[in-house]
Amino acid sequence: MSDYEPLEDERARRALVLHPSLKATAAKANAADLRRRPEARLAEAVGLAAAIDLEVVHAEVVSLSAWRPSTLIGSGKAAELAALIEENPVDVVIVDAAVTPVQQRNLEKALKAKVIDRTGLILEIFGARARTKEGRLQVELAHLNYQRSRLVRSWTHLERQRGGFGFLGGPGESQLEIDRRLIGERIARIKLDLEQVVNTRSLHRRARQKVPYPVVALVGYTNAGKSTLFNRITRSEVFAKDLLFATLDPTMRTVRLPSGRNIILSDTVGFISDLPTHLVAAFRATLEEVISANLILHVRDLSHPDTDAQAADVADVLASLGVTESSSLARLEAWNKADQLSPDVRDTLQNQADRQDDVVLVSALTGYGCDTLLQRIDDRLASDRVEIDVTLDAGDGAAIAWLHRHGEVLEMQEEDGHLRLSVALSQAEAGKWLKRQEGKPA
Ligand code: GTP
Repeated sequence: MSDYEPLEDERARRALVLHPSLKATAAKANAADLRRRPEARLAEAVGLAAAIDLEVVHAEVVSLSAWRPSTLIGSGKAAELAALIEENPVDVVIVDAAVTPVQQRNLEKALKAKVIDRTGLILEIFGARARTKEGRLQVELAHLNYQRSRLVRSWTHLERQRGGFGFLGGPGESQLEIDRRLIGERIARIKLDLEQVVNTRSLHRRARQKVPYPVVALVGYTNAGKSTLFNRITRSEVFAKDLLFATLDPTMRTVRLPSGRNIILSDTVGFISDLPTHLVAAFRATLEEVISANLILHVRDLSHPDTDAQAADVADVLASLGVTESSSLARLEAWNKADQLSPDVRDTLQNQADRQDDVVLVSALTGYGCDTLLQRIDDRLASDRVEIDVTLDAGDGAAIAWLHRHGEVLEMQEEDGHLRLSVALSQAEAGKWLKRQEGKPA
């Protein structure tokens, strides 16, 4: 049932990549579409295809005045591409957009080739990159949900006749009815397994929180350099390669800061624009590591032409997790790949960074700025720490446990059946403590 096994055939699979783009006038209504240049989006889609070892034989932006409900792109363009494919056969056509099941079927007929859309492609990449049991389960769940949604919407007689590789998604044609039932059963089973894995992980997290080390979570657009920075800082060998989405599961290491304070540095998933909703939901558990962090370190590729749009996408994903500009979670930006900038641009950005206490210009590759970054993390964590004095009923075990879990208990004294505690907490945790106490009778 799993679709994530690599093809047995070792031959590199050939792909054609299309990025359909509405012409500026038609797209005016949709500001998000204009955030990135179509060429940059095409380049990103080619990078995504390369991440699962597809050999891209042709890539182009298809400019449209409107989306066509039947085939997405116009029939003239489809015929032109069909001719191209006939001369230069490919195993798969990647359409970097959301393609409905009907459009997919019609395009496959017109192009005489397998078609997958952006969600399908991202699912393939996630599947290939998942390294832990939880990651693999999350991907499988997202994949099954995606398949199921397409089964329901595309339940037609013609759909049964569609051919293609199982690995590239799409319903198993002749088995459609069986698949629907099996998918439902499999989803239920995976959810149970996942719950168990997540429970184990939150037990681990709780155990970790007993050691009062603040957690610093690296976030960033895919390929921004998170793993490279993580390695630079921890000098460990996390899988760092020029592959999009090389990071799928959080990886944690302890790091000692200049002040002697220990932190846990956590490398998380790479974000991307138009992250399919199935995936945001499926990866919530992993992303929750981010929310429970004490500091979010946003790694940005300042040498990328679309660095601002990428930062906006990261902000969108964080906002979907409830982390916004106004939330109390401490944040820092690492402006990475300084070595790639021209000296003029680097000087300008260095000046800008020097004027802001939440930005550090770095190069994860050369180590430039990394000492400053560690110092800044240290400063931020120190300023984020508050000490509170609390008096509790000696029998209030739950509250005492909460404080031990979320903060560092500096002092504890018993007096007439009451406990007086002095506790160091992050601002965010202190806020949570106050909220927790609000609803209680005095
Ligand atoms: P995902 O796992 O896709 O989210 O990527 P990531 O953010 O973890 O990026 P990763 O560390 O894998 O780096 C991506 C590519 O950028 C690799 O080829 C790195 O060598 C390169 N890279 C990272 N940091 C720097 C840097 O400071 N300078 C230069 N020139 N290249 C860098």
